Amino acid sequence: MKILVLHGPNLGLLGSREPGIYGHLTLADINRQIADAASEFGVEVECKQTDIEGELVQWIGQAGGEVDGLIINPAAYTHTSVAIRDAISASKLKTVEVHLSNTHAREEFRHISLTAPVCVAQIQGFGPAGYCLALKGLVDVLHSTED
Ligand code: DQA
Repeated sequence: MKILVLHGPNLGLLGSREPGIYGHLTLADINRQIADAASEFGVEVECKQTDIEGELVQWIGQAGGEVDGLIINPAAYTHTSVAIRDAISASKLKTVEVHLSNTHAREEFRHISLTAPVCVAQIQGFGPAGYCLALKGLVDVLHSTED
């Protein structure tokens, strides 16, 4: 089983970006935690980051036939991107949306997610641990829907 993990814009700055909100771990640290969790659950993961909306759309489109599930933190595009929502929907991939922070406890413009309605679940507010929780949940869902 293979899971693709996509990190959206500005998440490459983790470690130095607003550590009071996002913590001190870098994206490389988080990706290591995800890789450790993946080997614990016996699945393969690939983690990628981009600041570019169209690149996320292309990666999701290509992933459709290649991976079993998707974990995505669309970052700011969560609140704006019909294109990413449509790409998730078109891919038919079981998808979990992750946010490090609790977006509902922040500015009002972060309270809306355009992408969450086309995902099987959303996890937010647990910091980097959210990715490993998402992986556990997604692997369970994928196993339960196996032929
Ligand atoms: C975020 C929340 C978004 O509102 C914000 O734009 C981000 C990060 C999070 O992980 O908490 O860049 O997705």
